[in-house]
Amino acid sequence: MTAYQLDIANSPAQTAFTPAWTSTKVLSNAIVADRVSMEFRSGTEKFQVLKEIDLAVQSGDMQLLMGPSGSGKTTLLSILAGMLTPTEGSVHLLGQEITRLSRSQLARFRRDHIGFIFQGFNLFPALTALENIEVALNVKGIRKSAAKHQAQTLLEEVGLADKANQLPKDLSGGQKQRVAIARALAGNPQLIMADEPTASLDSKSGHTVIELLRQLAKDRDRTVLIVTHDPRIIDVADRVVYLEDGRITEPQSSLETYSCHR
Ligand SMILES: Nc1ncnc2c1ncn2[C@@H]1O[C@H](COP(=O)(O)OP(=O)(O)OP(=O)(O)O)[C@@H](O)[C@H]1O
Ligand SMILES: [Mg+2]
Repeated sequence: MTAYQLDIANSPAQTAFTPAWTSTKVLSNAIVADRVSMEFRSGTEKFQVLKEIDLAVQSGDMQLLMGPSGSGKTTLLSILAGMLTPTEGSVHLLGQEITRLSRSQLARFRRDHIGFIFQGFNLFPALTALENIEVALNVKGIRKSAAKHQAQTLLEEVGLADKANQLPKDLSGGQKQRVAIARALAGNPQLIMADEPTASLDSKSGHTVIELLRQLAKDRDRTVLIVTHDPRIIDVADRVVYLEDGRITEPQSSLETYSCHR
């Protein structure tokens, strides 16, 4: 049993909601989507965006989700992060079926276990780099001098100690993205999910961001799932899954076909 399973097994949410039966697939993977479908409705029109998605991400892996624009990548990532509820199917994260949690339990689970990096940074424009991270720590119950100290350490880890007091408008795209990564790492979540983290970055900044995410997976045993169009990331990923027209284009059994070096 891995550390996160022990942690989860001891948490009240787990005792209350996970059945005694838990499949091997759920226990051996940090992220599991099981026959996930998503349908959006607009008036009488229905639009099926995801069709019976099966997907698994092993603990400690850096996995990519690629596919053409409009294929459903952001929708799937939002479902896997518990920000959207699928029309059908289930999602297990760290052994917990998040699709069965109440709204408040889900909010707590996300706060404790998921770091999310949004496309376009999503930083608070009126707060400095340091304050943007401090706020995320405050939300996780870490306050005052402890939050300041941890925010400083996180900024150092992404190589931005000297930019602590700068506002986002005075940072480059790559620096803003590194602040967003530091913020996603606040509270040390087990799962990191990122939507197009290198889009709009030049090649050097993109490389720094990719290297940071890779180190997280490999040196810190975090599980990292990245939506991307960026072919530069393929070389450093453990696996690549392709989404096309709302379906995974290859069955799970042939995922090894896409396995990259470890
Ligand atoms: N809230 C919504 N209501 C209706 N349709 C939606 C909604 N969100 C997404 N869609 C539709 O679902 C499809 C998939 O969208 P999604 O954003 O997941 O694609 P994507 O693969 O992330 O694309 P891109 O690479 O351009 O970011 C699109 O056709 C989009 O218009
Ligand atoms: Mg998208």
